[in-house]
Amino acid sequence: MSGLESNRIEELMRRALALAERGGGKTTPNPMVGCVLADPEGLILGEGYHAQAGGPHAEIAALEDARDAAHDVRGAIAVVTLEPCAAHGRTPACTDALSSAGIGSVFYGARDPAAGGGGEQVLEAAGISVTGGTLRAEAERLNEGWLHFVHTDQPFFHMKTAQTLNGRVTLGREGDRWITGKTARAEVHRLRRLAPAVMVGVGTVLSDDPLLTVREWPRADHPDREVAWPNVQPIRIVLDSGLRTPRDSRLVKSAAEQPVWIFCSQSADASRREALMAKGVDIIPIATSDEGVDLEAVAGTLAARHVTGVLVEPGPTLATALVSAGLVNRWTMFLAPDWVATKGALPLLLSDAPHNGFRLTQTEWQLHDRDAAVTGLVESVPGV
Ligand SMILES: NC(=O)c1ccc[n+]([C@@H]2O[C@H](COP(=O)([O-])OP(=O)(O)OC[C@H]3O[C@@H](n4cnc5c(N)ncnc54)[C@H](OP(=O)(O)O)[C@@H]3O)[C@@H](O)[C@H]2O)c1
Repeated sequence: MSGLESNRIEELMRRALALAERGGGKTTPNPMVGCVLADPEGLILGEGYHAQAGGPHAEIAALEDARDAAHDVRGAIAVVTLEPCAAHGRTPACTDALSSAGIGSVFYGARDPAAGGGGEQVLEAAGISVTGGTLRAEAERLNEGWLHFVHTDQPFFHMKTAQTLNGRVTLGREGDRWITGKTARAEVHRLRRLAPAVMVGVGTVLSDDPLLTVREWPRADHPDREVAWPNVQPIRIVLDSGLRTPRDSRLVKSAAEQPVWIFCSQSADASRREALMAKGVDIIPIATSDEGVDLEAVAGTLAARHVTGVLVEPGPTLATALVSAGLVNRWTMFLAPDWVATKGALPLLLSDAPHNGFRLTQTEWQLHDRDAAVTGLVESVPGV
């Protein structure tokens, strides 16, 4: 057991969590993990994070960082956001690396539920003191999508919407697209960066011609702004049964550089299909329902492709369908303090769906300049 004060261990864990976030979007189907090595006085000897699936794990990156700086890590403390792995996968087990480096104690945040994954007992058997659950809630929150995927084999659906005080998600004015201000939009870019994929309905492609990339993150006031953040872009997904996505849309024009997947009906026009494929779009024909492509089938295909989570940025049609199908796991709702009286401004949901009420749990409220945002896990409340 380390003699360090628990608040210093928590500070080191916060640092490890911030490092882990840098791998956001690139580690899927693996979790984001960060690691800090410190001497018995709490001074940092090395830092690392899991930058991408198949690459070195956070513990290995931190050990290398310490070695590069010629620090002796024997007897050091390792603070890791996730229980170190004991399994040899694409990379060797982290438990072996930590014990052969002579690490004296390990503090980890979340337990690793992956089959054959967790290494607490292996580390203890090697004589290393292990303490789990440091900032557990934060560590689990960071990888909620991955944890959901490991437990259910389904991707985690995080829905983001932006609305006015009177619940309008469109302004109904030509050329006036943004509900919220710049700071709130930068937060959406942070959410995109953490997501393996971003999804929209074709209605939004036709009206807004979005690019759906991460451009405004990290923000100018981010403490780690000076670090070279890897240019990580999510897979961009469009639900478009009839392949109405224009060939000259910004999504299609950029498909050769950053992936675009379009889910369409199995009977979608073959020449449209070929034209989009020629531009580098991955066309995925799938079963359809009354609303468009079958959402359960989409979720199943994403899972089969190891996409652990999706940030959905829906217009009213797709939002209504997702909520009705009970597919939303987390909902982040931005609220702009404006009341829009324009006639064509659309409400968030187009019907009284869903049949049951729901509430957001474990809520967090944030202010983004003049806009507010609430985020929480969606829990259905039968009979309400
Ligand atoms: N404030 C916000 O948070 C926000 C976010 C995004 C967009 N918007 C606004 O919303 C407006 C567009 O909204 P929208 O309702 O027209 O479009 P949407 O929700 O973006 O897309 C709906 C279309 O997606 C396709 N789709 C395929 N499978 C579907 C399924 N299972 N369920 C639902 N849709 C499916 C359908 O077209 P097919 O039948 O052809 O497949 C459907 O018409 C724009 O004005 C945009 O600016 C606002």
